[in-house]
Amino acid sequence: MRPENDQLETRFIHGSANNRSHHEPATGAVNVPIYLSSTFHQESFDTMGPYDYSRSGNPTRQVLEDTIANLEGGARGLAFSSGMAAISSAFMLLSAGDHVLVSKDVYGGTFRLITEMLGKYNIDHTFVNMTDLNETSRAIQSNTKVIYVESPSNPCLNITDIEGVAKLAKAHGCLTFVDNTFMTPLYQNPLELGADIVLHSATKFLSGHSDIIAGLAVTKNEELGERLAFIQNSFGSILGAQDSYQLIQGIKTLGARLKQSSDSALKIVSHLQEHSLVEEVYYPGLSHHAGHPIHRRQSTGAGALLSFRLADKEAAKAFVEQIRLPVFAVSLGAVESILSYPATMSHAAMPEKERAKRGITDGLLRLSVGLEHPGDLIEDIEQALQAVARTRQKVSVSL
Ligand SMILES: Cc1ncc(COP(=O)(O)O)c(C=O)c1O
Repeated sequence: MRPENDQLETRFIHGSANNRSHHEPATGAVNVPIYLSSTFHQESFDTMGPYDYSRSGNPTRQVLEDTIANLEGGARGLAFSSGMAAISSAFMLLSAGDHVLVSKDVYGGTFRLITEMLGKYNIDHTFVNMTDLNETSRAIQSNTKVIYVESPSNPCLNITDIEGVAKLAKAHGCLTFVDNTFMTPLYQNPLELGADIVLHSATKFLSGHSDIIAGLAVTKNEELGERLAFIQNSFGSILGAQDSYQLIQGIKTLGARLKQSSDSALKIVSHLQEHSLVEEVYYPGLSHHAGHPIHRRQSTGAGALLSFRLADKEAAKAFVEQIRLPVFAVSLGAVESILSYPATMSHAAMPEKERAKRGITDGLLRLSVGLEHPGDLIEDIEQALQAVARTRQKVSVSL
């Protein structure tokens, strides 16, 4: 069987095309060596070897870059020092005078980059509700060069029709960028749906252990890959060799981790839905979720991330103070469950008025489900909700 026909889970382990031998040729080591070398000796006066300086290319990083290109089905993979470095570098493909159309509920850091940085380079933007293709189409301008999608979006898990947006973009001569952090290549392949660049905060599910900050980009074609590699080398926000190694190791277990966490997420969602104190649960796997039919069409799983709404800030506070197992922290996609409060964490960079427009209210909590036993997580959530109930009883008594 040809290696490119292997299932994803197999490709997570055996990674890049040049890692097909399953071991490092010089020694037989099953893991890729960490090449801790900033520079490389050149054998010949006239010709340079494959590597010269680690900002421009490093053999450990190369294996990672080939691996993610292989997994996303793209021509070129590039590894950056953070998800934001990958996203910023992709936006640097634009020129002064260009315009970008952006999904209105993007990650807070991407919102900050777009609203506070791109303007300095005379790159204009419009936020649109990308779940609505007509609205998206109407917002395209003559100078629009990129349509930027997050699906599912952060934190309310809205779904954008990636194929529909990519078709619109092509018809108007624009590129489509998709942040695939939440789904990973296990569940969603935006390049197959017509996107030109896929972006990842590899800090999350891809690495999976809350131990590194990393970003990845994959381009559909070589030409875009060359241009983005030039930006990567010019800005220099590359991923170091040790972190590249760690990310390669994380990717190996992605299939097992994300499937297990997604199964647990569904169980937790079912529990939360039944609870009288939970006003709303957001999860693209729910059949009544507005984006469910599109998500089912373009993705093979619903993921390990869910959000739910309690009555108000006091209820959210009581829940957070009582919960025992999930860490209360920014970030997501790790072996430990992570509970976060979008209003002051992932979306702190967004003004309150903008948050309200996106449904990021004071009672909203986001849970990234880890690998703890789902029964323990549900029991923990239940006792935290009981604490919320007690605070609400106190409020009604004092009224
Ligand atoms: C969807 C999404 N995209 C991008 C980023 C930015 O990635 P990083 O924190 O690795 O720079 C994040 C971080 O939380 C994210 O959640």
